Amino acid sequence: MNVKEELLKALAGGDFISGAALAERLGVSRNAVWKAVKSLESEGYVIESVTAKGYRLAESSNRLSESLILSHLPDRSMCSSVRVFDELGSTNITAKELASAGAPDGTVVAAETQTMGRGRLGRSFASPPGSGLYMSVIVRPELELQLCSMITAAAAVAVAEAVENLSGAETRIKWVNDIYMNGRKICGILTEASLGLEMHSLDYAVIGIGVNVSGSFEGELADIATSVEAECGVRPDRNALCAEIIKELRKYLPTIGERGFLTEYRRREMLTGSEVTTTVGRETLTGKAVGIDDDANLIVELPDGTQRHIGSGEANRTRKK
Ligand code: BTN
Repeated sequence: MNVKEELLKALAGGDFISGAALAERLGVSRNAVWKAVKSLESEGYVIESVTAKGYRLAESSNRLSESLILSHLPDRSMCSSVRVFDELGSTNITAKELASAGAPDGTVVAAETQTMGRGRLGRSFASPPGSGLYMSVIVRPELELQLCSMITAAAAVAVAEAVENLSGAETRIKWVNDIYMNGRKICGILTEASLGLEMHSLDYAVIGIGVNVSGSFEGELADIATSVEAECGVRPDRNALCAEIIKELRKYLPTIGERGFLTEYRRREMLTGSEVTTTVGRETLTGKAVGIDDDANLIVELPDGTQRHIGSGEANRTRKK
């Protein structure tokens, strides 16, 4: 890490630190600290400087930064690298390009804003700057192919838990992988996989995560989407949230084989017990969601009593006419 990155990391705690203490910690002169502060300010970071107290990173900095994300991780082995961009078309697209070029397991791509944020089922994902966390994680798990479909459900548990850890508020999961707070969506996940040459193993998967951290939605979206801050009054720091998600993914992804994430998934799943409508290929099914099976499929009981295990797509509560 260079002086600037070291300085950012040192200031990440949010407390004032004197120029002398910073110089000692970084092993550079006070003048070098001052220059690094100026350089960070020119990049848009807001650094408060108070006589006899020192420097502190203002909360209003609110910028995504590789150093700040890493500073929230207990050790570097949690992720191989973090790449932060001001603007990308889609973090998933960039992550897939990096993965195809050989980027290792645990590479994280994040962006302040996306111009072509992608959602599931061909939808777009609104990605305004400053108010959301848009990140993609490259994973190369050694998993049998039929278990790979559960990456997305395990990721949903990881993200739900990370948001809860930082906000103190409860989240729910709507099958397959939408995260909800108080009945409206705060996060969507789009997992894209690439198969190995022999087609019976996974080369890599990119887990794309979009969290609405602050702000509100208008028009039709206002009924279905919301943000963490709007729901619970707490605005998690986006760098800390990114790191927390990385930690929770590290915890839950290795449990896919023995279904270690399923208890937490089932506990939060919110369609179970409701009348739902789901589309399977060209067929639209209406029935009662009665649970999640051991492969994270949604079990729907049809009016004739038969049960269908739905592996992909989307299900919604049936609107009462
Ligand atoms: C959905 O709700 O349909 C899934 C939304 C996934 C959005 C995230 S934001 C980061 C990553 N990059 C993308 O283009 N999409 C995912």
